[in-house]
Amino acid sequence: MDSRQIEDFRACFPLISHYDGAIAFLDSAASSQKPSCVIDRVSDYYSREHANIHRGLYSLSEKATAAFEGARSSVASFIGASDPREVIFTKGCTEAINIVASAWGRKFLTSDDEVIVTVAEHHANMVPWLMLQQQIGFTLHHIPLTLSCTIDLDAFRSRLNERTKLVATHHVSNVLGMVQPIRAIVAAAQEVGARVLIDGAQAVPHLSINVVELGVDFYAFSAHKMVGPTGVGVLWGRQDILEGMGPYEGGGDMIITVSQTGFETADIPHKFEAGTPNIAGVLGFEAAIQFMKSWDHQMLRTHEQHLARKLIVGLAAFSRIKLLNAQIMVKEEWNQQSCRDLAENWVGIVSFSHQDIHAHDLACFLDGHGVAVRAGHHCAMPLHDYLNVGSSLRVSPYYYNNPAEIESLLSALQAAEEFFL
Ligand code: ALA
Repeated sequence: MDSRQIEDFRACFPLISHYDGAIAFLDSAASSQKPSCVIDRVSDYYSREHANIHRGLYSLSEKATAAFEGARSSVASFIGASDPREVIFTKGCTEAINIVASAWGRKFLTSDDEVIVTVAEHHANMVPWLMLQQQIGFTLHHIPLTLSCTIDLDAFRSRLNERTKLVATHHVSNVLGMVQPIRAIVAAAQEVGARVLIDGAQAVPHLSINVVELGVDFYAFSAHKMVGPTGVGVLWGRQDILEGMGPYEGGGDMIITVSQTGFETADIPHKFEAGTPNIAGVLGFEAAIQFMKSWDHQMLRTHEQHLARKLIVGLAAFSRIKLLNAQIMVKEEWNQQSCRDLAENWVGIVSFSHQDIHAHDLACFLDGHGVAVRAGHHCAMPLHDYLNVGSSLRVSPYYYNNPAEIESLLSALQAAEEFFL
């Protein structure tokens, strides 16, 4: 790991420089910080390039349209999509999943069908299916996890049958950080002809994603967790599937013709992009992609694992702290090899509960010591129920964090125990 390069990376983030070590920001799974190039791209668009897209027969609008569609191509190439028309811009990962529920699910699911999720879904990949189930009445199965916090493939396979129409799972858990075996999930789902939707919100910031190689049907993610702006997300879907779906929202840009009695929908991707999109956000997202591509990904991932190891080793010294991730708990000796083993299937998100201090009290105390973490159920209440934990504290470092910030967290935890116990 090259600490000079990490410091260079860190220096690109103005909020981090602004607080100059006064805040250890360890909540990047909720939303990452933004580099100057992303902030500048958004600002430049509004200062010098703004006009609505797809509508204006004047050069400012045509340039904005070209930039927006260029960003679509950049996203397509970033995730290995074969056609930019398969990339639908949304306001976030949540909306991307809701498009599938609404425009695919309502059209193709019946009360005889079965949909599979896991117990570890973020609410964004749970509530849309519960809502749709209330309307349609299909059966919803929740697959448990193994001790290593990956999907129990035996339980999963035993649930698959000819009525299974959709498997909707996270790629990386926003609470446990584990990477799910997507290829094995896809292979099994394909045997019964089920579609596979992946919630990639926590995967895209850390892993190289190739949607074609994964073999999935839908892949949803957001920009703001991977140094891009808030309010932008992507639904990638296979062209033939997207073409067979109904529209999502109705409005301008998603139609070819409208009369008093009907309308004809536009082709993909515009069919799913009614109204004026978040143009500035999409351009900022493209800048984020270019920024991330300009760094050595392996170097960043190694740094992240180094931070995670330091965190885990440090937390092990607290006898009242219990990690939610069973695989991490059973690692007796945290050495470089343990880290390398886990590097493939863990992104370094760590959640834990304290035996005597409520997660909210702990988070407020840490905030008073300049450490920002998330406390609660992290939009994953079913997982907390499954693990029999009321709430937890989540630490999610990213590439711009440094070892001193992990030390700040550990010292603040020590101070918290002295204060509360
Ligand atoms: N999905 C985000 C998180 O896990 C908000 O914190």
